[in-house]
Amino acid sequence: MSLGLDDLGSYAAADPRGFRELLRGFAGQVADAARLAEGLRLDGGTPRAVVVLGMGGSAVAGDLLQELCHDRAPFAVHVTRGYTVPAWVGADTLAVASSYSGNTEETLAAFAAARARGARGVVVTSGGELGERARRDGILWVRVPPGFPPRAALAYLLVPLVVLLDPTGRALGGAEEREEAVAVLKALGADLAPEVPLAQNPGKELGAWLAGRTPVIYGTDLTAPVAYRWRTQLEENAKVLALSGALPEIDHNAIEAWGGSGAGPWAVIFLRDGAEHPRVARRVGPTRAITEAQVPTREAWARGNGRLARMLSLVLLGDWASYYLAILRGVDPWTAATIEAFKRQMADADAPQEA
Ligand code: PA5
Repeated sequence: MSLGLDDLGSYAAADPRGFRELLRGFAGQVADAARLAEGLRLDGGTPRAVVVLGMGGSAVAGDLLQELCHDRAPFAVHVTRGYTVPAWVGADTLAVASSYSGNTEETLAAFAAARARGARGVVVTSGGELGERARRDGILWVRVPPGFPPRAALAYLLVPLVVLLDPTGRALGGAEEREEAVAVLKALGADLAPEVPLAQNPGKELGAWLAGRTPVIYGTDLTAPVAYRWRTQLEENAKVLALSGALPEIDHNAIEAWGGSGAGPWAVIFLRDGAEHPRVARRVGPTRAITEAQVPTREAWARGNGRLARMLSLVLLGDWASYYLAILRGVDPWTAATIEAFKRQMADADAPQEA
């Protein structure tokens, strides 16, 4: 298995379109995405609440934003996956339609519903129907570059929102944290690239470790949405089912299953961050002891000082691990054929009603 991942000639067969180049470019995409937002301004001042409307890879940006804002932003962030919006959405809400393609029917319907309730709008998209609506209705459009699979455009879906929502940098860390994140991601990206042999490459090592097992990814505070990102990247890139969850919540449910008859073809990874709440950090050891009694378990640690660097460093590690698992499985990480076929099938069915 290790020989396979260290044989660079083998990559083109499973990855003919070069998904690896998109992962290799992650640090640059973060820097580019920050520049993209610099010329944009949110009219109307800070909203009371932000509702991010999206699905799949485009919704994950909302999850990460929500966690970044959690204990620092003076507004609430809520992520909605589906056709409708919460009843509290109104004139004091900023509705962010996050859809890489701009054509996701759930996001289009939810955004129309939010606008009908008087919410201010921002669209984050490469184009599609959402881009058309932004142009037609004069809505602020964060124009994401085309040519990516949606989940690989995460930097462009997330970073401009951070800049837009915190133009002074006082709440979410500003340019300093973004620059640190770029530096950390650049250094980490160099360690994770295909040219680095498995013995020195934590991404390859994790991908190989997961082969033949069902991944279970547990996050803590800042890393809770990252655990979900790992799960969805493993599902879409490597095409393996995965589970995810977060401490302290899993100490109130999942550990019961692990403590009972958890044994099976699972492999557990805890995503750790040096700034966890002390009681959460205290929980990891005993929680890990429960899973470790049943199945192989390990930890992966965030890098960097700022929240953005710590969060995105673990995102990048998971992206590469899912990539290497895809290569080992001989599946193309770029394509999501079943998702695309399903979207076409739904488009052929009756169109959803919009507000
Ligand atoms: O990562 C993917 O390809 C999917 O999860 C998509 O993000 C999801 O289907 C929604 O599409 P879009 O991001 O274009 O709105």
